Amino acid sequence: MHMRNSSRGYGAVAQILHWLTVVLVASAWILGQIGEDLGGDGPRAPGILAHIFVGLAVLAVLAIRLLWRLQDPKPKPEPTALGPWADRLASLTHYLLLVLLVLAPLSGVAFRFASGEVLPIFGLFEIASPMSGGRATARSVKEAHEAMANALFFLALAHGAAALVHHWLLGDRTLKRMLPGDR
Ligand code: HEM
Ligand code: HEM
Repeated sequence: MHMRNSSRGYGAVAQILHWLTVVLVASAWILGQIGEDLGGDGPRAPGILAHIFVGLAVLAVLAIRLLWRLQDPKPKPEPTALGPWADRLASLTHYLLLVLLVLAPLSGVAFRFASGEVLPIFGLFEIASPMSGGRATARSVKEAHEAMANALFFLALAHGAAALVHHWLLGDRTLKRMLPGDR
């Protein structure tokens, strides 16, 4: 298996970073929903700390992904039965997913700070909140975080469903070229 992308498919590094992001986003979203149920509530509850850990890992993996992308260009669009409009829609979706991969975690950080809480960085150190917003600010930032997280989750579901349509209904290589064993 090759590390780098070819003109026809994704290399091992792009694939690992893609699927690692999928696992992290799904875990962050689930922990966001159930975090409070895992060992109590409050800003230092284990579920919330795990949620923050995983959410920040999404940002870290995205940074590595974008740096890697600078010297490993994407493959050409896979020829499919749908034609160029589908390629444009797929590119727009990928771009929006990347934007939401930044906005969902950053709005989480903003919410944490707006609540006046410290931000733990992978258990290594903490950053004190630079804000002293009131409850109303914290509530609206929380709503913004929820909206970004949900937009990311549901757009990713639609994107994943499109990949399955390509695989099972159209029978093209779109999904295969993001999986090991294909170049
Ligand atoms: C892709 C990354 C992330 C996703 C998908 C995500 C998703 C979510 C979801 C779905 C909720 C529940 C919202 C609600 O019930 O109102 C939530 C809550 C929260 N998120 Fe995130 N989040 C992410 C990253 C982060 C990051 C990096 C932080 C950093 C501080 C963070 C901090 C919080 C906090 C403090 C809450 C409130 C928990 C509570 O008190 O119930 N999130 N998140
Ligand atoms: C949080 C979930 C997801 C995110 C954020 C995400 C993001 C992305 C992005 C940004 C790309 C563009 C290529 C790149 O930058 O490396 C991509 C490509 C791709 N994704 Fe995802 N994805 C997610 C989930 C999924 C799932 C669940 C599937 C399959 C069931 C999937 C299948 C694919 C395929 C097949 C490609 C290649 C498309 C092409 O060659 O045009 N993705 N994804």
